[in-house]
Amino acid sequence: MRKKVTVVGGGNVGANCALRIAGKELADVVLVDIVEGMPQGKALDILQSGPVEGYDVMVTGSNDYGPTENSDIVIITAGFPRKPGMSRDDLLMANYEIVKKATEEAVRHSPNAFLILVTNPLDAMCWVAYQISKFSRNRVMGMAGVLDTARYRTFLAMELGVSVESISALVMGGHGDTMVPLPRLTTVGGIPLPELLPKEKIDAIVQRTRDGGAEIVKLLKTGSAYYAPSAAAVEMAESILKDKKKVLPCAAYLEGEYGLNGLFVGVPVKIGAGGIEKIYELSLNDEERAQLQKSANAVQELIGVLKEKAGL
Ligand code: NAI
Ligand code: 2OP
Repeated sequence: MRKKVTVVGGGNVGANCALRIAGKELADVVLVDIVEGMPQGKALDILQSGPVEGYDVMVTGSNDYGPTENSDIVIITAGFPRKPGMSRDDLLMANYEIVKKATEEAVRHSPNAFLILVTNPLDAMCWVAYQISKFSRNRVMGMAGVLDTARYRTFLAMELGVSVESISALVMGGHGDTMVPLPRLTTVGGIPLPELLPKEKIDAIVQRTRDGGAEIVKLLKTGSAYYAPSAAAVEMAESILKDKKKVLPCAAYLEGEYGLNGLFVGVPVKIGAGGIEKIYELSLNDEERAQLQKSANAVQELIGVLKEKAGL
């Protein structure tokens, strides 16, 4: 039977997820948005690219969840993006309502799906979806680490004048200003990064990575990044659909790993047909561990607000 992926939110990230999934023929796609006609129009437009691009999957747009029935994966991108000067966390309560509703509907229509969250603030929205869905932790995950790591690899490749493909790296932590790029574990064609760049240069790239989303918000002036975010979300979906078992940094629900409990934070995981099949626990040095704890504290603060204001 053909696979089905629902993308909730037909805006910039969602529509590009739909386009990429169709382009790779990963699954039939259902695009859901509250704006009347918009998901239907975008779905038809993506469908009509098929004869030119040479892909052949069904793409449907809808304002309700009927057509999403029995999806294998639901990618939730619905919500407000950042405006200049806004932090991801400013989006908390507005996007909470949207993600809550989207999760309820997704679960009702696709009780066996995997959920991939994209909506910001990412780690807190994963927690909302986890609480509402009551799914096991292997079935709820968030996209941020793949994007943040892609930005980090891009900046390093630009600085070193090498292919991005030669850079192997990992950004852990929450998707915010406290994210934790790990230069000690970064290699360029197998060569440890600290042997190739002085500390000041590495520090500057780490900071640019942390500010990577804001840099694009500032340039675009309306809305936030969507090409790399949609590519990152689809890499996760592809690893599930094809059981690729890629090791990717994703927001995962932690139950004691890294000394953290009861929250989502970005860590390296194996993703396959079982969703998050394994969480890798690396040995971090004291500084890295402190940075991860700081990042987890920032996520925990948002969960505290949600518990207080939404009674979750
Ligand atoms: P956008 O504004 O282009 O699209 C959002 C869409 O959600 C709109 O079309 C809107 O009509 C729709 N929507 C609102 N309420 C809805 C509901 N209840 N049900 C269905 N659809 C609904 O925004 P964009 O750029 O696509 O970003 C979406 C979200 O993803 C934002 O929260 C943004 O901050 C986040 N994001 C997260 C990233 C990450 O790394 N985790 C990267 C990029 C964006
Ligand atoms: C990004 O990092 C806004 O979270 C989004 O581009």
